[in-house]
Amino acid sequence: MTAPLTVGVLASGRGSNLQALLDACRTPGYPARIAVVISDREHAPALDLARAAGVEALWVNPKDFADRESFDLALVRELQAREVGLVCNAGFMRILTPAWVRAFAGRALNIHPSLLPAFPGLHAQRQALDHGVKVAGATVHFVDDTLDGGPIVLQAAVPVQPGDTETTLSARILVEEHRLYPVAVRLFAEGRLEIVGRCVRIKESR
Ligand code: GRF
Repeated sequence: MTAPLTVGVLASGRGSNLQALLDACRTPGYPARIAVVISDREHAPALDLARAAGVEALWVNPKDFADRESFDLALVRELQAREVGLVCNAGFMRILTPAWVRAFAGRALNIHPSLLPAFPGLHAQRQALDHGVKVAGATVHFVDDTLDGGPIVLQAAVPVQPGDTETTLSARILVEEHRLYPVAVRLFAEGRLEIVGRCVRIKESR
């Protein structure tokens, strides 16, 4: 068996998607392991989840840097120092600068709580409710220099129920997020994702 893919996770908050990835990495034969979790917030619960799982948890304070790009380049250095082959953004609440995106082109994923390209940006679930859509969902996509606009790897749909609130819809979508992200990471680790223009082709398993 080949060595598992080394993954770095960027997270700013609660960390439930991080937890889904940590759980997946514990299952026998899963082809990835998380080497470091980095947060821009000192007290992000995601950092506690990392520590509880025995994974390095690192706070990088944006205030220590003159501008966004220097902060992002510090992230790049930390990730490269750990030789990560894939970065998973899991509720990382900052827009990454082009220098960061270039460093991890084709090697960074994000998860977003909508059926992209609908409702990029903040409060996707609220945007979906306000728009009156009847189907919502989750998307895992490669990170490029557009906001939530990179090539789509996987999506899952959920119904919008009459009477849904942002809370109830978010919870329904989150179940799918936790299922999708580990599948996407597995596909990447197995070398089965090919970016073709703005599309992702998923190759058959050998
Ligand atoms: C998720 O809904 C994710 O799709 C979005 O931010 C939220 C993060 O939640 N990008 P968690 O921190 O993983 O629980």
